[in-house]
Amino acid sequence: MSEKLIISGGKRLVGHVSACGAKNAAVAILPAALMAEGVCTIENLPDILDVKLLNAISHELGAKVDYDSENACVKVDATEGISHEATFEMARKMRASYYYLGALLGRFGKAAIALPGGCSIGQRPIDLHLKGMSALGAEIELSEGLVKATAKGGRLKGAEIYLDTVSVGASINIMMAAAMAEGNTTIINAAKEPHVVDLANFLNSMGARIKGAGTDVIRIRGVEKLHGCTYAVIPDQIETGTLMIAAAATMGDVTIHNVIPMHMESVTAKLLEMGVHVEEGPDTIRVWADRRPRRVTIKTLPYPGFPTDLQQPISAMLCVAEGTSMVVENIFEDRFKHLGMFERMGAKCSVSGRVAVIEGVDHLKGAPVEASDLRAGAALIIAGLMAQGETQVGELRHIDRGYAHLEEKLRSLGAEIHRVG
Ligand code: EPZ
Repeated sequence: MSEKLIISGGKRLVGHVSACGAKNAAVAILPAALMAEGVCTIENLPDILDVKLLNAISHELGAKVDYDSENACVKVDATEGISHEATFEMARKMRASYYYLGALLGRFGKAAIALPGGCSIGQRPIDLHLKGMSALGAEIELSEGLVKATAKGGRLKGAEIYLDTVSVGASINIMMAAAMAEGNTTIINAAKEPHVVDLANFLNSMGARIKGAGTDVIRIRGVEKLHGCTYAVIPDQIETGTLMIAAAATMGDVTIHNVIPMHMESVTAKLLEMGVHVEEGPDTIRVWADRRPRRVTIKTLPYPGFPTDLQQPISAMLCVAEGTSMVVENIFEDRFKHLGMFERMGAKCSVSGRVAVIEGVDHLKGAPVEASDLRAGAALIIAGLMAQGETQVGELRHIDRGYAHLEEKLRSLGAEIHRVG
């Protein structure tokens, strides 16, 4: 039998909990570590499946990888013996494996990577990544599920690159490739997400010269070599948001530690609009609720807008809000699969294209549901925590990819949740 989470709903979450390191920063930093001659010590890594998979890919590529999950730390030594080809099955399983393309192409002037998989939330093309690498002088060949990129003349050359769409992945991949290119690169209309900034900071700690990360123009002066460093991953914005929403959804009172409150502003603003209380400390956020949430409109946008990754979790709360809410998903066209699962629990939802309408009901009722992707999984857990009776959440492999010990954390706050199977 495949594993399931069994949740007895209706318990208020109360207490203190800590956020882990950011998944979406870690999954860029681990491939980037292969660009260094020397040892990179990466701290505050989340204990998730994606990190384990990337460590395995780095190892298969020839790096010495010493992972200590208990201390949330890995040492990666890619000084020598690194292959530029991640063509194996493991790379195909995870979306972030495409970051090896930028990292290896930047360092060695050539790379071959299996085309990525990942969450099924829309088409998720990688045309912008490839366009950026072509602009840097790479010849790109797509065949038999592989992307092969080769720098003309053996080394990439700096260029001005305009991204038609604000893309986290393309900004990160191009930044890595350009870090070791000859000359200067400018990325215009770059993504400003905290994990884009974190990757730039990591590369700079290895000796790269990157300015402007966190704005929409990133300037990179290429260097010939990168060296090892010690670096701690930033706290996870999306895990923090998930815990904030879970606290509010259960009318609880939770303080989340090890967070960067500034990264949470769009979420905090929405929760306040819904009638939830939020109090920020220097590196803590306390969230508590004492009333039924008010209806709101959510529009997902690139950072600093409301993150698409929290659209699904917050939608769970909207199912029981006073009045009818609207959710506009501007980033991924197919990120509404969780709503059908909410309907099994008694929610009233309808979808037309990128817009969902959620009519608040008095309460949700427990039901067997399945996660269709990572954040849908988190959303279903939150729905289960709010619902009357028992909810069974299946397809946990999605949740394990990106949340570290989520059920233990929720249990420590008073949730009745356990894994079976
Ligand atoms: C990253 O995905 C995150 N993944 C996603 O997190 C997150 O939802 C997303 O950014 C948006 O914030 C990682 O960091 C590993 P994008 P990414 O490129 O990089 C279009 C999670 O749950 N686009 O910013 O794939 C694309 O279709 C996940 O943790 C192109 O058209 O997202 C989308 O509409 C899932 N061509 C928009 O850009 C391209 O070449 C933004 O996507 C690339 C993207």
